[in-house]
Amino acid sequence: MKTELKFESLQALPAELLVVLAVDASTSKDKNAAAEPAFHPGDEDLSLGTPVLLTKDATVASADKPALKSGEFSATTCETLLLHAPPELKAKRLLIVGVGKAAKLSLPEIRKAAGVAVRFAKPRKIRQVSFVLPEYDGLNLADAARAAVEGAFVGDFDPDTYKSDRKDRSIELFTVVAPTGANKKAVEAAFREGVILGESQNFTRALVNEPGNRLTPTILGERAAAMCKEQGLSCEVYSTEKIKELKMGAFWAVAQGSDEPPALVVMRYEPNDAPKDGPVLALVGKGITFDTGGISIKPADGMEKMKYDMAGGAAMIGAMRAIAQLKPKVRVIGIVCSAENMPSGKAYKPGDVAIAMSGKAIEVLNTDAEGRMVLADGLHYARQLGATHLIDAATLTGACVVALGMVNAGVFANDEDSYEHFQKALKLSGERFWRLPVEDEYREMIVSEIGDIRNTGGSRYGGAITAAMFLKEFVDETPWIHLDIAGVAWMEENKPWIAKGPSGVAVRSIVEWVRSYA
Ligand code: BES
Ligand code: ZN
Ligand code: ZN
Repeated sequence: MKTELKFESLQALPAELLVVLAVDASTSKDKNAAAEPAFHPGDEDLSLGTPVLLTKDATVASADKPALKSGEFSATTCETLLLHAPPELKAKRLLIVGVGKAAKLSLPEIRKAAGVAVRFAKPRKIRQVSFVLPEYDGLNLADAARAAVEGAFVGDFDPDTYKSDRKDRSIELFTVVAPTGANKKAVEAAFREGVILGESQNFTRALVNEPGNRLTPTILGERAAAMCKEQGLSCEVYSTEKIKELKMGAFWAVAQGSDEPPALVVMRYEPNDAPKDGPVLALVGKGITFDTGGISIKPADGMEKMKYDMAGGAAMIGAMRAIAQLKPKVRVIGIVCSAENMPSGKAYKPGDVAIAMSGKAIEVLNTDAEGRMVLADGLHYARQLGATHLIDAATLTGACVVALGMVNAGVFANDEDSYEHFQKALKLSGERFWRLPVEDEYREMIVSEIGDIRNTGGSRYGGAITAAMFLKEFVDETPWIHLDIAGVAWMEENKPWIAKGPSGVAVRSIVEWVRSYA
């Protein structure tokens, strides 16, 4: 998908599909609701209770006046209204996309609306979309431009890679149309960021979508290395020998069960303009290219989904891609611990004791708790490489899905300052994470009798937290954020703004977290 930014009025704009947003401006009895929109563009007849278009361009307002007054369209979120040959406009079609209640208008809603417009166009073979930036009191146009581009990329992705009769229905050109009076520099910069973030998120989604036979740890390593080469990052991909040499006993315990060799990916972003004594941020991702559960094997039903067990690692590779292009003034190391979790004659077994790189002895209670094993060594290694701040992402626990469902991902932190940075990042990314506790009482659940710690809490209770407590053992005092994305890395159904399949969650938030240190 190509993208462009224009500062133009709408009347004479040639477009295949001109997209304008509309809010539901009906008055709310809720006295906590924010103010109603401050303008009713070009049409005094539009009384409260009808949809209000978010453009000051009068030609658009008059073009679809009859449709808007018909009462057939109420501008609820993701609702669409299509007009062919709109009068007074040069555009071939006008698409109105609802963004819900005026008082609740937010950047995530704009991101979603751009995705809706793109996914409206795709099956109708419309290859070009012109998205009119919403004008609304209190809304920053640059932020809106960025959100719109990100949303367009999110909407453009479809996971049908291997269909033999696949017809690429990608949007060829997505145009953001900003009002002529906008602050050009600011909108242009934000637009460019949106392109980088959207493309990087889709890069991650393409990796996550790959089946286990087509994306082994070795191939994941090659894909990461190719990305790094393209973006000017340095990258090393190690395998069995190095993992043994580094005494990564926890990582190796998982890897040893597969005929596919593991991969330890180390990507580095080292800008010359980063302060020498500044922070070194490490992004550590779980890259299990397929999780059978190992000897503690998973049920057959739904096991095919476990190809996405490398979504955390893929998020880190996508984030490094974006970082390479956005060039924040801070050093970043990306680490992906990739292996296949298989049952075999060589596989690790319940009861085994593995000695992690840190020296801690881990009693294996369940071989399906493999993500924390590979991350234990990844986190320790990151600190050895000089990381001052850690963030990890992993499809770590089913328990996190039980706790938060498929809406919010889990976030854990051992440090308030890092967490504040992450919260700020969420405001920009629009992604949804919910904090869960990291407290000593939970540690008791993972104390081992034979060794130091065990790889599960023994009971199902608090499973996402005991997994986080396990990881915490390997970060020591280093400020650390842990993201459990098991429930949100894969969309279970098609939505109007995003396809069923890999979501690319966490890429944008991680990148913003990194930028907050620059
Ligand atoms: N990869 C899974 C977690 C998962 C579950 C990801 C659902 C995506 C969707 C992880 O390796 C796992 O199997 N965890 C176990 C841990 C348990 C054995 C303590 C789980 O959550 O059941
Ligand atoms: Zn598992
Ligand atoms: Zn797993």
